[in-house]
Amino acid sequence: MEYETNNWIWDGMYNHPHVFGGLMLTAALLGLSTSYFGGITVPQLPYLWSDSGIFHKKKCDRKHIRVYMDGCFDLMHYGHANALRQAKALGDELVVGVVSDEEIIANKGPPVLSMEERLALVSGLKWVDQVITNAPYEITEQFMGKLFSEHKIDYIIHGDDPCLLPDGTDAYALAKKAGRYKQIKRTEGVSSTDIVGRILSSLKDTNDGENQTETSLHKTPESQPKSASLSQFLPTSRRIVQFSNGKGPGPNARVVYIDGAFDLFHAGHVEILKNARQLGDFLLVGIHNDETVSEHRGKYPIMHLHERSLSVLGCRYVDEVIIGAPWEVTVDMITTFNISSVVHGTVSEYNFSLTGESDPYSVPKSMGIFKLLESPISITTTSVSQRIITNHDAYMKRNAKKNESEKKYYAQKTYVSGD
Ligand SMILES: *[C@@H]1O[C@H](CO)[C@@H](O)[C@H](O)[C@H]1NC(C)=O
Ligand SMILES: *[C@@H]1O[C@H](CO)[C@@H](O)[C@H](O)[C@H]1NC(C)=O
Ligand SMILES: *[C@@H]1O[C@H](CO)[C@@H](O)[C@H](O)[C@H]1NC(C)=O
Ligand SMILES: *[C@@H]1O[C@H](CO)[C@@H](O)[C@H](O)[C@H]1NC(C)=O
Repeated sequence: MEYETNNWIWDGMYNHPHVFGGLMLTAALLGLSTSYFGGITVPQLPYLWSDSGIFHKKKCDRKHIRVYMDGCFDLMHYGHANALRQAKALGDELVVGVVSDEEIIANKGPPVLSMEERLALVSGLKWVDQVITNAPYEITEQFMGKLFSEHKIDYIIHGDDPCLLPDGTDAYALAKKAGRYKQIKRTEGVSSTDIVGRILSSLKDTNDGENQTETSLHKTPESQPKSASLSQFLPTSRRIVQFSNGKGPGPNARVVYIDGAFDLFHAGHVEILKNARQLGDFLLVGIHNDETVSEHRGKYPIMHLHERSLSVLGCRYVDEVIIGAPWEVTVDMITTFNISSVVHGTVSEYNFSLTGESDPYSVPKSMGIFKLLESPISITTTSVSQRIITNHDAYMKRNAKKNESEKKYYAQKTYVSGD
């Protein structure tokens, strides 16, 4: 079974972290993407892959415009997803370069997510056709030549924020000169820097909260940490439409339902969504609103409801989301959406059997349509946050530097139109 095959790959990756070469990564990626391109039930291997850690989709007869965009994709968020969505719209096939851990360390400081985790996130996006692992931080003349000749790239894409090399020159000057450069709009309201800031501030809030609960037991709503409220993101109906598949379940489709907070969307989410999707024909994802998450987890999520919804919608295994799903799966919901199975991962932020709360899945369980899915990897929102908190000082330093340029950007920014 394909599910087990992927499990094995992840197990391999996690049990033997030192053996990852380009080859292992490519194999994992192949497992990640096969079900999407090759069909859920008929696993195929429609790729030719070279030893350089790159895989290719089936050769096409018609000339396709191939566009390339690179990035670190550390703490990937819907801003990255939106950039890649826009890049994809400038061509037929989108090739994404994921910068190596070493290059990120050398240029920005330690990444929060490992190469494999960043790779899982990027290849889980529905707009991405190919991934180049261990891309360089800078597009050198040599790498650009390789992109054009070896990877048949037509255009290199970058956001409209200036990107300067250490010597002060434009990083994309070469591509521009060659007439092979296209630009997209930066996505407003979110950045990895801002997310790190929210996590650090939620830590501060939590500590304050702990101190407070010791002195006074009552908690006022104002004293609750509310990191999501730091967001500058303004969700528009258009953005949600851009991310949506716009299709309901077909006739006789088996609808699978999974719910959760999906905060700080990570590789563990991608994997569980992929496995859930394989149990049916249509994956419906319920996203709990900020208050529901706070009530059951004792803390507001880092990303607010609409941000979390966009991240989930950008995932290729997801067909539809419920923005603000109820905590309990009710008979009415199951009927309304014609849900044929309800699934939940074994690795979860909540454990109601421990807290003594009532089981939100008692209805699907009594109907015999509940399934506990083995979570393929154990990363959680808490463990991602924990990494940032552990490296607190390094990230504070890195953040302070980025903070300045962000502030300048917001101070200077003018009307932004387009996508
Ligand atoms: C908690 O309270 C103690 C004593 O009042 C104080 O020393 C400490 O700094 C506080 N911790 C935080 C995180 O505010
Ligand atoms: C409801 O889902 C089942 C599969 O679980 C499917 O056979 C049936 O056709 C669906 N009903 C409608 C009205 O789509
Ligand atoms: C919750 O905790 C119980 C008791 O420790 C454990 O048996 C169960 O597997 C846990 N469930 C989840 C979903 O983590
Ligand atoms: C970044 O800037 C914001 C407001 O401009 C400030 O509240 C925050 O403390 C700064 N963070 C760092 C790490 O300097």
